[in-house]
Amino acid sequence: MHTLRTSVHEGKPGATPRQVQLALDLRATATALTALEQAADAIDIIEAGTVLCLSEGMHAVRAIRTAYPNHTLLADIRIAEAGALLSKLAFEAGANWVTVVSGAAPATFATVAKVAAECGGEVQVELSEGWTWDLVQRCRDLGIAQFILHRSRDAEAAGSLAWPPGDLDAIERLHALGGRVSVTGGLTPTTLGDFAGRPAEIFIAGRAIYGADNPAAAALAFRDAVLAIP
Ligand code: 5RP
Repeated sequence: MHTLRTSVHEGKPGATPRQVQLALDLRATATALTALEQAADAIDIIEAGTVLCLSEGMHAVRAIRTAYPNHTLLADIRIAEAGALLSKLAFEAGANWVTVVSGAAPATFATVAKVAAECGGEVQVELSEGWTWDLVQRCRDLGIAQFILHRSRDAEAAGSLAWPPGDLDAIERLHALGGRVSVTGGLTPTTLGDFAGRPAEIFIAGRAIYGADNPAAAALAFRDAVLAIP
């Protein structure tokens, strides 16, 4: 198990702790490491994005872990099946967290939760449109605490960058159930007003940081905007 980096964004006592996650959805490990090198000081959590994991496999996760031994590292491998095998691949490569899609079978959540516990890791469930509170409760019963709400990249490509109905209002209830909520999908420093007063904890940005002319400045601007959310 790797030592997790302490958050630099703990905020005021009693306030929701806010953290920044950089999603590296790039095809090449070298390119991802270059962006990461510029942004690393402004972020808490590194995400080896689905694109990177599919393109480069767990070599990318190992390379990031080697370069950043103390950051929390998520392998966004979106497990839908073969949960034990896939989660072990990621944890053995150095990931702290793995993702499971909300459409996975009940047995998959159970098996990934078990492997995560054995490896000292955690599971994030990506709640895609159509997710249910029954699923959330089953996850909580398995000890899974992390939930991701997102705006679909495919819907964005089709011209609609919107939160699925009810998702923003779900943040409070997920939190009350003991969940730790991540939000993502086209986030930029100017679009964080949606979260004012809501207990979302992890703010995930990809293109707004690695796609910027100056990823270091973009990461700092995103961090500042996250910390300024009331
Ligand atoms: C897409 C993802 C992305 O990694 C995440 O949403 C960040 O992407 P971006 O900030 O570039 O939209 O998981 O579902």
